[in-house]
Amino acid sequence: IADLRRRAAATLLRNWRGSATVPTTALYPHQWSWDSAFIAIGQAHLGPRRAFAELTALHGAQWGDGRVPQIVFNPAVPEDAYFPGPAFWRPLPRHGPPAGVSTTGLVQPPVHAAAVLAIAERHPGAATDAAVRRLYPRLVRSHDYLFERRSVASGLVGIVHPWESGLDNSPSWDEPLAAVDPGLADDITVLRRDLRHADAGHRPTDSDYARYMGIVAAYRDRRYADDDLLGLPFCTVDPLFCAVLAWSEDALASLARRIGADPGRHAERARELTHQVHTRLFDPALGCYVALDARTGRALRKRTVSGLVPLLLPGGHRAAVLETLTGPSFAAPGVLGVPSYDLTAPDADPHRYWRGPTWVNTTWLLWRALLAHGETGHAERLAADLVHLVSTAGFREYFHPVTGEGLGSDHFSWTAALLLDVLA
Ligand code: DGY
Repeated sequence: IADLRRRAAATLLRNWRGSATVPTTALYPHQWSWDSAFIAIGQAHLGPRRAFAELTALHGAQWGDGRVPQIVFNPAVPEDAYFPGPAFWRPLPRHGPPAGVSTTGLVQPPVHAAAVLAIAERHPGAATDAAVRRLYPRLVRSHDYLFERRSVASGLVGIVHPWESGLDNSPSWDEPLAAVDPGLADDITVLRRDLRHADAGHRPTDSDYARYMGIVAAYRDRRYADDDLLGLPFCTVDPLFCAVLAWSEDALASLARRIGADPGRHAERARELTHQVHTRLFDPALGCYVALDARTGRALRKRTVSGLVPLLLPGGHRAAVLETLTGPSFAAPGVLGVPSYDLTAPDADPHRYWRGPTWVNTTWLLWRALLAHGETGHAERLAADLVHLVSTAGFREYFHPVTGEGLGSDHFSWTAALLLDVLA
């Protein structure tokens, strides 16, 4: 275990670029939003300085409208190292990032306030309070952006691209993606950079990528304006995104209390969104929460790991979700961690990104949820699985849920970071 900790710390150091951490060197050579939140949670075990620096760097790219961008591009990295690179996303609007900063125009699941709370709880003291005071207004503005500008389906919060869910090629997005016109369809294989660094069988398909590009091009051509969300080619409500937002909003209430600000508005917003998730997104027949296509009003009835994550929230359908989490779809004998998709589904693919493999971040979210509900037996099983996966296959991006084979890239930052948290 001591050796695993040492190697996890070395992975984070290897990926540190002076003010922030890349998810991994070749495949993702810039700063990613939700990666940074998970990385900060792990960095907090090595000290508060880099943990706060990571999130300070990310929020330094916050847009004028409050959004915290999915990717902050490193100007030292060549344009064609990542696709779609900085040039694709331009022109960025006036309400965009600070002058001289290049970003994408999307967001990712808002784990950041929960991460700041985790750092603060580990390192209480005056220096921490000062760092929290600096970050708090930025966190509030980013949540205000989501609640106010991304409000869809009366009371829920929407995403406008599969990349915003963090679970890019989740089976939940198959139906809405099928209705999207592919952009750049002919050139996509040539333009993609990810396939130079990872096995094509472990990544989203060309057909997925062509549609991802069609959606971002449409949003970019509107200068990333959010005033007609349902007029965009893709607009959905995702259970993980909403649950993480409610969880982080509750963390904002705790942070407000620490620095003498008013927690009331945060507690209220967290309660209201939690209520909406529990009452509007739960599917009793599937025993989990499901995404919603905001454009058509249709429930996207797939049993994915995203639909288990509302277990993080108080109340709700705890017994049913627990049964699904520990049943044949996600925990048949021999399954390691929590697979990203129901392994009994005919379209499950245990090698392909978010269509079956086990990821450390989503397994970690469920480990946290189980601990919070006093389900220590189940939580310990997940923690032991994560340790087993990493000790046998390394700090991989994701893993085959049955064989434990390492998939995607290696030396992956959030795998290392969250392992440090599990081992603490
Ligand atoms: C990628 O490049 O594959 C990322 O998931 C986009 O955020």
